[in-house]
Amino acid sequence: MFLSHLECTSCGLRHEWSHLQNLCTSCHKPLFAIVDLAKAGRALTREVLPTREKSLWRYRELLPLPSDAETVSLGEGGTPLLGATRFGSELGLSNLWIKDESQNPTQSFKARGMAVAVSMAKYLGATKLAVPSAGNAGGALAAYAARAGLEAHIFMPRDTPHANIIECRELGARVALVDGLITDCGVEISRRKAAEGWFDMSTLKEPYRVEGKKTLGYELAEQFDWQLPDVILYPTGGGTGLIGMWKAFDEIEALGWIGKKRPRMFSVQATGCAPVVRAFENGDSTAAEFPEANTGVDRQRARG
Ligand SMILES: Cc1ncc(COP(=O)(O)O)c(C=O)c1O
Ligand SMILES: [Zn+2]
Repeated sequence: MFLSHLECTSCGLRHEWSHLQNLCTSCHKPLFAIVDLAKAGRALTREVLPTREKSLWRYRELLPLPSDAETVSLGEGGTPLLGATRFGSELGLSNLWIKDESQNPTQSFKARGMAVAVSMAKYLGATKLAVPSAGNAGGALAAYAARAGLEAHIFMPRDTPHANIIECRELGARVALVDGLITDCGVEISRRKAAEGWFDMSTLKEPYRVEGKKTLGYELAEQFDWQLPDVILYPTGGGTGLIGMWKAFDEIEALGWIGKKRPRMFSVQATGCAPVVRAFENGDSTAAEFPEANTGVDRQRARG
């Protein structure tokens, strides 16, 4: 077992991993899982990785799940890196690659986070999992909860594309449609979770979705033969994937698998909902809520 403890990303307060945790109990900021990298590095070398299964579980020693814990898996991770030669030359880029995350279970990289977070939630005794979602996170939670034999309670804005709502319901989740934005869905979960016995799986409000998402960073490093690309463009929602990749790069540098060089990370967001881009442009250290968010993505889908 290589997970040492949980640590507040803001005030540094140490928390035990051995019971279910959401935010820091002191300052209410997100918690990070701290892996004992010296110990993990003695158990796992990068040469061993290609001999293991093509999934995010090949990095098992760097993931928070205790060795005796059962993984809740649907075959996530290990997605291909596709050379985009023609698209690249249209853009004047000679070395453009696309990490095809649509090949994950439930067709998005949300599967990575949910595989690890649902595994941990189950191991630590949660039985009812709740999440706010405007699409893919809900579908992923529904699938992993079904796989784990746990209840999923999903709160979605009423204008969520129909396909995502159907996906969650067909996978056995209870779906509530909320008149409002995803933030209103989150508020509804916070208000009811204690009485309902739900564990809140909101992104960055529990410590393990980011652990699943960090495997994107491990995979990129491995697939690029331990030379990170110059630039990563990341389609961003809350930003957990970016945070996860950055954490992954720090961890594998500590393991001696890569050097100090880091890619320039670009957060790409729809103009109508760009909290991370706006925070970056303003030089803020945290992203504030984006009121009246409206991307028009669902309208385009309805037309398309
Ligand atoms: C397919 C896909 N990619 C990327 C993201 C961004 O997720 P996050 O920024 O929370 O890591 C989302 C959801 O928000 C998504 O559904
Ligand atoms: Zn704190």
